[in-house]
Amino acid sequence: MKTRIVPGDEPSSREEAVAVLRDGGVVALPTETVYGLAADALNPEAVARVFEAKERPRFDPLILHVPEDEWLEKVTDVPAEDVDLVQGLVKRFWPGPLTLVLPRKSIVPDIVAAGLPTVAVRRSAHPVFGAVVRHFGGPLAAPSANRFGRISPTAADHVLAELADRIPLIVDGGPTLHGLESTVVAVRRAGLEILRAGPVSAAELGEMGEVRRAKVGSRLEAPGQTPSHYAPGARLVLVPSLANFEGERRNAAALAFRGANQGADFAVSRTLSAGGDLREAAANLFRLLRELDDARVEIIVAEAVPEEGIGIAIMDRLRRAAVRSG
Ligand code: TXA
Ligand code: MG
Repeated sequence: MKTRIVPGDEPSSREEAVAVLRDGGVVALPTETVYGLAADALNPEAVARVFEAKERPRFDPLILHVPEDEWLEKVTDVPAEDVDLVQGLVKRFWPGPLTLVLPRKSIVPDIVAAGLPTVAVRRSAHPVFGAVVRHFGGPLAAPSANRFGRISPTAADHVLAELADRIPLIVDGGPTLHGLESTVVAVRRAGLEILRAGPVSAAELGEMGEVRRAKVGSRLEAPGQTPSHYAPGARLVLVPSLANFEGERRNAAALAFRGANQGADFAVSRTLSAGGDLREAAANLFRLLRELDDARVEIIVAEAVPEEGIGIAIMDRLRRAAVRSG
């Protein structure tokens, strides 16, 4: 099948996307975090097509994206002790880059939750995603629109590079705002466990309730969060500063955190944010990793960023990329 890219700001594109979804097909849509590969969440055959296109293992559950906040109670069974906390989180962070893991109702097919008793739910703030999911009128299951284990797409052409000829339609909404996947939290016993770091920081969540540490490797940790994720083709080495890299620079690519002319002696180099702004660095991270990877170097040397705010999520992704390729 030939993949087509259509502009998100045209109503006809949205109508076409909805028609494909109603027909049980899959469509790539922009969100404020990364592009998602969407299907009718309540149609198990449609959801199976998402797993096939991504080559994603069936044990890795998907996020269910709801059209309105009211849908949360149709798909989850929130224990009485957690109701206040959940309502507070929805009020403050939805629509936005926060995914809540809660006990699921039976309306949610097993394939979406990979058989777990819980389901991950989010409501996207992206105008194009929002328009399509509301017009569709029900929840959409949507993982990041990349092949399994690879870097998430933050632009329509990244989706094309990942899934060309596997999906019929990509709706182009331009580059995504945050550039990193949503924060995933489990709400349990009136507290929070962060399963995946993201744009909503631990400090912000701490203002809403007690944040407990999720045991690494426990069943509660996000099943898809294997150490070896976000892998570029080249080997990725994480260093405290580019000055620390002692290998051969002429065959290596450099990903600097900040400043000007960093990594000038490398084969190719990029800078996450000249001014050292962590939000800008996050928005640029996956695109720049793709650009460096396209240079077909053997090694990408990435510089550490400060582990505060969204810097925690940036370092999480860089560490996972380094594990896979190291
Ligand atoms: O920003 C995002 O979250 C993007 C956009 C498209 O919404 N989506 C995304 O989906 O990153 P995905 O499938 O690439 O990552 C979802 C993560 C996976 O690590 C998955 O294992 C975890 O959420 N997850 C899903 N359901 C879960 C559940 N019931 N319990 C624990 N973790 C869950
Ligand atoms: Mg993903």
